[in-house]
Amino acid sequence: MWKVQLFKLNYDKRESQAVKDVVDSGWITMGENTKKFENSFEEMLGGTIYATALSSATASLHIALLSLDIQKGDEVIIPALTFVADINVVRMVGATPILADCESYNDWNISARTIEKVITPKTKAVILVHFAGYPCQMDEIVALCKERDIALIEDCAHAPEARYKGKAVGTFGEYGCFSFFTNKNLSVGEGGMLITKSEKYDREAKYFRSHGMTALTLDRHKGRAITYDVAQSGLNYRIDEMRSALGLVQLDKLAKANAKREELVEHYHDRLIGVEGLTIPFINIVNIESVYHIFPILLDNEIDRVALIGKLKDDGIQSSIHYPAFKDFTAFRDIGLNEAPIAEDIATRELTLPLYPTMTHDEVDLVCDSLIKNLGELK
Ligand SMILES: Cc1ncc(COP(=O)(O)O)c(C=O)c1O
Repeated sequence: MWKVQLFKLNYDKRESQAVKDVVDSGWITMGENTKKFENSFEEMLGGTIYATALSSATASLHIALLSLDIQKGDEVIIPALTFVADINVVRMVGATPILADCESYNDWNISARTIEKVITPKTKAVILVHFAGYPCQMDEIVALCKERDIALIEDCAHAPEARYKGKAVGTFGEYGCFSFFTNKNLSVGEGGMLITKSEKYDREAKYFRSHGMTALTLDRHKGRAITYDVAQSGLNYRIDEMRSALGLVQLDKLAKANAKREELVEHYHDRLIGVEGLTIPFINIVNIESVYHIFPILLDNEIDRVALIGKLKDDGIQSSIHYPAFKDFTAFRDIGLNEAPIAEDIATRELTLPLYPTMTHDEVDLVCDSLIKNLGELK
């Protein structure tokens, strides 16, 4: 149906072999591959850091809020422009989500300036997102959170291996939360990783992941434990060995895949900067190394986005929207969310074009040719 899909897996025989090896080994629930995946992820991030592999990034965000004891009466600042996971986890622990706006029409991330505007005495935590793989300006945000005694959670779902001033994102705050959902830079189907520098938070995360149990099924299988204690209440947020094995292969490919994304984005820039009807965000942002998770553009006010998506579809080009505004979803319509004018405006005009590491330059040209032609027709 599509000539150019929004996303394609960067998989080959290595992923198939990795899953086959796990199945053939006879051990499929959390075990040695998971430990290896965590260790390799820790190495990739650098420094003294602890990683806990989980069933999703949403699980990692939930665990972070539970461990910080965020509850009813507390406020948590989240970006106004992000995926619903961030608002859902805040509401699931009973706290109140407060929206921080984008820094500007060029830098769509939240910033110390937009966070500070919405801090109140009830603010207990900030969840930031490195949108589209472009890191936030961390020095100012870290300083603000320290000064106001507010916990910082980095949602790095878009940004594995992205760096701010040479330091990996996910290592700045109390927690870093990564997603390995299908369309992410590192994909295993469903999966996530929780990062922390604190031994205490790491211990709690590993308890939260597996019912608070002090020993795993694997420990009993290996004869290392006969029974177990339950140290604290917990959930089942475990990853399995198939996904961890996929994660190891994908982690090995990540740097090269991110470099290919950068090359494709440069090609998009060459073709689209200056084209009438659109602007491209995240131009000349300082201090950062992006990992180009998605390629978002901003349509001019007069362009009918739904009509454009239809015309692109007629040409075989898949596109998408990141993200609709929270206030337009049924679940959040009546909860009294504060306004965030730039994010709300971007939400009505954003369009995401295809981007994935195995995409060819000819495919970028197909997308750009169709986009330019259809924008001309819609003006
Ligand atoms: C910014 C952001 N946060 C969190 C998530 C949730 O990730 P997961 O599907 O692994 O729970 C996503 C997934 O799309 C995301 O884009």
